[in-house]
Amino acid sequence: MPILRITKHGERVLKTPCPRVRYDELAPELPGLLRDMWATMNAARGVGLAAPQIGLDLRLAVIDVRPQGKSSRLVLINPEILSADGDQTDEEGCLSIPGVYAKLKRAARVRVRALDADGKPWEMTGEGLLARAFQHEIDHLDGKLYVDRLPFEQRLKVLDVIKDAKVHWP
Ligand code: NI
Repeated sequence: MPILRITKHGERVLKTPCPRVRYDELAPELPGLLRDMWATMNAARGVGLAAPQIGLDLRLAVIDVRPQGKSSRLVLINPEILSADGDQTDEEGCLSIPGVYAKLKRAARVRVRALDADGKPWEMTGEGLLARAFQHEIDHLDGKLYVDRLPFEQRLKVLDVIKDAKVHWP
């Protein structure tokens, strides 16, 4: 179970929208790929990881926000947001921007449809941290990082912090 290098802010793969996964083509590699993604996410103490963060342009992400402290793993293949409502403002971070956090407004409730690891469709409504994770990971698949969503002035400040933090990134 290798722990993979996580791509960082500024790398091209994080800015590129990912093409949809053809499930049947990916299926043979998927179990190994998911094992590596979970291992990499857990080693970095993240609650989600998207394929571009390990250098792959695939519409694939994993999420585990550990509701009530228990693992609850979600595999998102070709995820789509069906509806979003309300708002929440909370601190957000990203494994591709280590050591940097910023408050960001997101929808409070989000309904998502995706395929699971077996290629079966699922739908779920997430609230709070799960809703945030859905939006954050799907943004990754669209080539967006959370800092791209900050209001202009705030984004400039955070980009300054990122510039300094980058010196210490692996
Ligand atoms: Ni992220």
